[in-house]
Amino acid sequence: MTQGRAKQNLWLHFTRMSSYGRGEVPVIVRGSGQYVFDHNGKRYLDGLSGLFVSQIGHGRREVAEAGARQGSELAYFPLWSYAHPRAVELAQRLADLAPGDLNQVFFTTSGSEAVEAAWKLAKQYFKITGEPGRYKVISRDIAYHGTSMGALAITGLPAIKEPFEPLTPGGVRVPNTNFYRAPSFVAGDLTAFGRWAADEVERAILREGPASVAAVYLEPVQNSGGCFPPPPGYFQRVREICDRYGVLLVSDEVICAFGRLGYYFGAERYGYQPDIITFAKGVTSGYAPLGGMLVSGRLMEPFSEGTATFLHGVTFAGHPVSCAVALANLDVFEKEDLLGNVRAREAGFRATLEKLADLPIVGDVRGDGYFYGIELVKDKVTRETFSDDESERLLRGFLSPALFDAGLICRADDRGDPVIQLSPPLTCGQEHFDEMEQILRSVLTQAWSRL
Ligand SMILES: Cc1ncc(COP(=O)(O)O)c(C=O)c1O
Repeated sequence: MTQGRAKQNLWLHFTRMSSYGRGEVPVIVRGSGQYVFDHNGKRYLDGLSGLFVSQIGHGRREVAEAGARQGSELAYFPLWSYAHPRAVELAQRLADLAPGDLNQVFFTTSGSEAVEAAWKLAKQYFKITGEPGRYKVISRDIAYHGTSMGALAITGLPAIKEPFEPLTPGGVRVPNTNFYRAPSFVAGDLTAFGRWAADEVERAILREGPASVAAVYLEPVQNSGGCFPPPPGYFQRVREICDRYGVLLVSDEVICAFGRLGYYFGAERYGYQPDIITFAKGVTSGYAPLGGMLVSGRLMEPFSEGTATFLHGVTFAGHPVSCAVALANLDVFEKEDLLGNVRAREAGFRATLEKLADLPIVGDVRGDGYFYGIELVKDKVTRETFSDDESERLLRGFLSPALFDAGLICRADDRGDPVIQLSPPLTCGQEHFDEMEQILRSVLTQAWSRL
């Protein structure tokens, strides 16, 4: 029944619908802790927190009930000219948690909207402060910053941009920090590689003309391409460069904030001060949708005088139910010391995943916190990757369905070189890491034998 209707009416995101012509659409009906269950009652370890979202895990009654209570008290009121208590409380709490002077909170409903809101703010800020030519945005190759037209111009994945061209003008790309694929002149030296990659930001600013560049968007750990942590000194150097040319630094923390890296914000972990942090996903652990940006008080100043108004808004931004849920979510973080859990156990997570390095197909294991990518290769010695055809057969044809059948939700992704990504709930412990490793070992071994 559900199967038939799902195939008839439900259009899944980023999904080849033809692949469900004969096969079943996976229908997830329930979640509990680190696990979810499908319509047949089968259990899966949620190694991706849904989509980098479910930080506190599934089935938390107290968080769901906070949403229900808010719904009966005040289900909706806009943040257009009005405030409501939960938005005020959440804004204050986020501002207290955020690094440095990021004390202004502008809510959205999603990550893409947060990314776009930050770009619009940067453009309008420069217009009203006498630098109207600044509109361009620099971001990294293969980085994903969202799919709406503005965010898509910042995203660095050619294949998902091409059908929608012409895009919003102003997107500029620089190299990412995939050290495993570093250019030969810096291949053996992580610090030199980081310096080179950061200096590429400066070269891009100079090439484009500093007076035309508004912002640099970087994730603390770049997700797309398979979890690229920043080399030592990278962010400090980019910060210096941004300051030199008057460019804003936006830390896109849609994935990395709220404990993914063992801190409320990735910028804290790597010791840099952004001008804006964009967030979404983990702020509510998915119990309701919410996104937003944390903005330096300095950027708010020109908007706090006279007739100046940030000309942006969306109906459901800072929805009362979502804000109530976010507050309850943060209560769970505190009560259960989830940041402490990640910091205490991340070395165990890394060590467990690194055991997979003995498999011939595993080229690199990288990441930080509870956020890891495993790069798959055809030849470990030469680091040769798979052809498009092999990638298609290996990832789409075999790995994705086989991992799911084996009871592990993770992501087999070939938007850059083929990788498997893991981003489990922050409540996970060694038994969950072991379960992931065992399933991955078995499925990757089978994958190799099929090549
Ligand atoms: C870094 C980053 N920015 C923006 C987005 C877009 O967020 P959303 O899907 O909520 O629009 C994502 C989504 O995964 C992301 O990872």
